[in-house]
Parts: sequence; C-alpha cells; structure tokens
Amino acid sequence: MKKIVLASIATLATGSALMAAAVNPAACAGCHGASFERHALGRSAIVKDMTHAEIASALKGYKVGKGGPMKGVMKGQVANYSDAELEAFAQTIGK
Ligand code: HEC
Repeated sequence: MKKIVLASIATLATGSALMAAAVNPAACAGCHGASFERHALGRSAIVKDMTHAEIASALKGYKVGKGGPMKGVMKGQVANYSDAELEAFAQTIGK
C-alpha cells in the first residue's frame, strides 16, 4: 500500500513538473503579438528581432528585478519559470 501511494505521488510530481516546464507563448501573445512582432504595450523591444541570448538574459533578468521601466509587467510573466525553462524557451523565439 505504502509503495502504491509513493508511486502515485511521484507520478503526480512528474506530471506537474512537465506542465510547468513549457512556457506557454499564448500567454505572451496579447502584448507581444502571436509571433512576438509587436512592441508590447507600445514599449518593449520587438522580441522576434532579438537574439536567443538577448531574450534569455532579459527573461532571467526580469525574474530578479532587472529590466526597463516596465519590468514589473514582465516579472509576473516569468516568476513561475526556472532559469532553465526560460533559457529553453528563448531558443524557440527570436533569431
Ligand atoms: C501584459 C503585457 C505583457 C505580457 C503578457 C508579456 N509581456 Fe513581455 N514585455 C512587456 C513589456 C511592457 C515589456 C518591456 C518591459 C521593460 O520595460 O523592460 C516586455 C519585455 C519583454 C522582453 C524584453 C524586450 C525588451 O524590451 O528588452 C521579452 C524577451 C519579453 N517581454 C518576453 C515575454 C514573454 C516570453 C512573455 C510570455 C511568457 C511575455 N513577454 C509576456 C509586456 C508583456
């Protein structure tokens, strides 16, 4: 019995880790555009024109309170992701 309970806890933990691992670009589209082609709220750089490295460093920076005048908006967007998740996501957008 104890073994079964432990196994289901392990499955649950793995399941939620997998769900958290992917940054959902749909959450960004409202401000940045579906292809990151817009100045979010008229202020951000156009993310699709940034390099993967610039995006990764911007996203990790927002987590620790660095960024431009509207960094507070982005802090909430990235707070739930690990640096590794943000790095991996940055490879999928920009150039
Ligand atoms: C509520 C609107 C909003 C949402 C949603 C949003 N952003 Fe942003 N984003 C902004 C604003 C405003 C800035 C500029 C912040 C600043 O002043 O540094 C920004 C900046 C950025 C930058 C750095 C660009 C620069 O100007 O240096 C990146 C990269 C970025 N966002 C990625 C994302 C990603 C990825 C998501 C989804 C997980 C996301 N954003 C969701 C509004 C938003």
